[in-house]
Amino acid sequence: MERLDKIISSRTGLSRKEAKSAISSGKVFVNGAAIRSSEYKAAETDEIIFDGKRINGKAHTYLVLNKPKGYVSATEDPAQKTVLKLVPPDLMRSGLFPAGRLDKDTTGLMIITDDGDFAHRILSPKKHVSKKYAVTIDLPVTNEMAVAFEKGVMLSDGVCKTAKLEKTGEYTSFVTLSEGRYHQIKRMFGCFGAKVTELKRLSMGKFLLPDDLAEGECRELSEEETALIESR
Ligand code: URA
Repeated sequence: MERLDKIISSRTGLSRKEAKSAISSGKVFVNGAAIRSSEYKAAETDEIIFDGKRINGKAHTYLVLNKPKGYVSATEDPAQKTVLKLVPPDLMRSGLFPAGRLDKDTTGLMIITDDGDFAHRILSPKKHVSKKYAVTIDLPVTNEMAVAFEKGVMLSDGVCKTAKLEKTGEYTSFVTLSEGRYHQIKRMFGCFGAKVTELKRLSMGKFLLPDDLAEGECRELSEEETALIESR
């Protein structure tokens, strides 16, 4: 249960004072009834309507995006389109950010949330949440690459944790990492003189990019799906 003014302010970007005044002027409805007391405590499952729009009663939001090329993994950028531009208006709320970065030209699974602890848990190398990518390179995939990835490739910022490379075609493979350094996969293949030409994230933990989520689409995750991300 959470105070109504806190819910309105955290979900809409209004200040606490503005949220209180919206509530006292009868603009907020809980389960169909106008509630004018800011102290009213609402449950996650209550239907809260403000300004004609449904406000999420949950403390945090967890979204999955199938990232297309051409968007940067940031909350704001003066010149480029950010992944937040792809969040539908009814799911948009203050405090959302992409949990981890994909390069501008990388596609696939991206989590957007306002839960900093959750983001830390799924990104920290110590937690070993695996991230699987489909990779295409401009040279044939070799066994030497697989062996080196398994051992830990040396990059300019240190040795990588062990990574799995599964060859799926002459130029294609699946690569599974348990960390997420800057341009990591591109740099790992770069050690072999190979250039990554296509990169798509397929899964995080046990959660797979949903088949029915088209590129550019973003939807809310269920609690079960959110838990799958953290399971190994
Ligand atoms: N590795 C990369 O090089 N780029 C990404 O976007 C993700 C992993």
